[in-house]
Amino acid sequence: MIGWIVAQEPAEYQRWLSSQADRSLALRGRQRFLQYQCIACHSADAAAKGPNLEAIFNKPVALEGGRTVLADENYIRESIVNPRAKIVAGFEPIMPTFQGMPEDELLELVAFIKALRPGETPPRNEESTPPQSDPKSPIPKPYPIP
Ligand code: HEC
Repeated sequence: MIGWIVAQEPAEYQRWLSSQADRSLALRGRQRFLQYQCIACHSADAAAKGPNLEAIFNKPVALEGGRTVLADENYIRESIVNPRAKIVAGFEPIMPTFQGMPEDELLELVAFIKALRPGETPPRNEESTPPQSDPKSPIPKPYPIP
């Protein structure tokens, strides 16, 4: 059998490791996004009631009232647990609050949105079971959509 050995500097290896960790976090976040029905409003198509979340990370967001905010990690987190705190310009304040969502699931969702690139919003009708390999993630009930 022929194989390759990849020799890496420790720092480089650490970076590689954490990029893998970010990726699996973001992948679990993708499942949450479907499971919690975020996709119902953030479908990134013409019928979407919420803003397109693709590539918003670290970009300025225009808010209702004329202010602008940077879509950093804190802003994304706040937008999920307390959506009324800052309303995106041109949208109605119809997003339900996800306050009380378990912290690990919130981190997964934030990682997913940070990693979401143009064209990567999952289709609406996709199966939405979370990865079964994660024993810590029982299937929570989706929050009701008003
Ligand atoms: C009932 C529709 C609806 C659902 C369900 C919903 N959202 Fe929203 N969301 C909105 C609307 C409308 C806005 C824009 C108004 C505002 O800022 O609240 C928004 C704003 C956001 C923003 C800020 C976007 C930006 O461009 O600055 C994020 C991040 C977000 N939602 C994430 C989520 C996540 C994650 C979920 C699921 C856990 C979710 N939303 C579920 C309607 C929804």
